[in-house]
Amino acid sequence: MPIDTRRALLFMPGDDRRKIEKGAHLEVDSIIMDLEDGVAVSNKALARDVTRTALQEITFGNSECLVRINPVTDDRLFQDDLLLTFAGRPQGYMIPKVETPEQLQVIDQRLTELEHQYQIAEHSTILLALIETARGVVNLREIAQASPRLRALCFGAEDLAGDMGAIRTSDGWEGFYAKSAVVLHAKAFDLQAIDTPFIDLRADDALLSAETERSAQMGYTGKLAIHPRQVGVIQQVFTPTATQIDRARRLIASHEEHQINGVGVFVFEGKMVDMPMIRAANTILTRARSAGIRV
Ligand code: COA
Ligand code: MG
Repeated sequence: MPIDTRRALLFMPGDDRRKIEKGAHLEVDSIIMDLEDGVAVSNKALARDVTRTALQEITFGNSECLVRINPVTDDRLFQDDLLLTFAGRPQGYMIPKVETPEQLQVIDQRLTELEHQYQIAEHSTILLALIETARGVVNLREIAQASPRLRALCFGAEDLAGDMGAIRTSDGWEGFYAKSAVVLHAKAFDLQAIDTPFIDLRADDALLSAETERSAQMGYTGKLAIHPRQVGVIQQVFTPTATQIDRARRLIASHEEHQINGVGVFVFEGKMVDMPMIRAANTILTRARSAGIRV
């Protein structure tokens, strides 16, 4: 699995070695060891130790390993989060509650210092930004351009609802503007868009699948996960099906034939086709390839 494929990203508390070990065997695209809200305040120091040691000792296969640190506004915590986990060499960090580009720049500079200290390639540590406050949403344009390390914008619906005094609904309409803004800015600045976790663990898998499907329809290519059971469901939705791949291939072949004959627009299986549909077909093939499917 190429490292830039992030369909499911599974959170686990950074102080829970058992869950981290479980996560290592799930063939999930990304693992996120959390030091922020999934860890009790009294366990923050322990979580840094457990996370660093787990990174050093456990074999994670093809899964990308990320650490979610505490927000930059919490100066006491985030500095130690970076300092005390960097030796584990996670591929990157997830930064929560990002509200300004300066907050990402502070992290960027600190990582550059650490990369020098550890004599590893500058900018090899990547960043994912969680957008989960009203200020984060209104500053998306600047945040999206804040650091060359940035790979993805992630939408956090729970915190956003809390920040706005909104009430969470099952179809998430209260966060729709923000959810739409996150994916739009991600696409505008060549970043990945990753959707909020589905937190109802009693709900049927079909509900998670349907929610993930709706995110995919909006252009999201990944979703945060909180339980091993969610990984397969999410990764499946973000992997093009054999039927979709076959159709995309035939559509592109037909397009190329028409181009040779000087025809730009044509009818394919009863529908008009021109360049936007060809681009969409190419996107399906790219996503299939990055999910490890030979096309
Ligand atoms: N990562 C890895 N393994 C996990 C896991 C996760 N996120 N969630 C559960 N598991 C494991 C459990 O350890 C358990 O295995 P075990 O019986 O061998 O110990 C198995 O999967 C089944 O777990 P289950 O009993 O259904 O869940 P739980 O009650 O132990 O935990 C949560 C429920 C919500 C606490 C747990 O799923 C979790 O910690 N999720 C991540 C929370 C988080 O990081 N939040 C911050 C970001 S939103
Ligand atoms: Mg949050």
